Amino acid sequence: MVSKKVENALNAQVAKEAMSSQVYLAMASWAEVQGLEGIAAFLYRHSDEERMHALKLMRYINERGGHAVVPALGKPPKEMKGIMDVFKSILQQEVEVSGEINDIVDLCLKEKDYTTHNFMQWYVAEQIEEERLARTMLDKLNLIGNDKGGLYLFDRDLNNPGSA
Ligand code: FEO
Repeated sequence: MVSKKVENALNAQVAKEAMSSQVYLAMASWAEVQGLEGIAAFLYRHSDEERMHALKLMRYINERGGHAVVPALGKPPKEMKGIMDVFKSILQQEVEVSGEINDIVDLCLKEKDYTTHNFMQWYVAEQIEEERLARTMLDKLNLIGNDKGGLYLFDRDLNNPGSA
């Protein structure tokens, strides 16, 4: 059974993961309209992943005797400044999520909830991967700079679901 404190923290995280899914979705739509098909495909895939992150938490909360709450979601921005800006804000968002996950892990220890602590390790590992991916993308975009041919290849590579 989860304590009310842990249940509330997990439900707050559900809302954050679901909002991340919305933000990725808005970015995907923007990229698609710009003709950046591969980047759009990558962002659509990530939107689905964030929804899965939220769902996994919801199922866990209910499994442990809590009640998972479906959150109200805000409207993410429609327009983006550019592709570099998109990936900068992705990295910033993922760093923030890592901090939130760490806070929950910390709360689990304080509450002596070792079961949830164990469950959260999946998210700890996932965040390492998410941050790494965002940094790699930014490094590549930095290398590409204003080279349109480079952006074309970057976009084409991302069309492959195995790429990221
Ligand atoms: Fe669910 Fe990208 O963190």
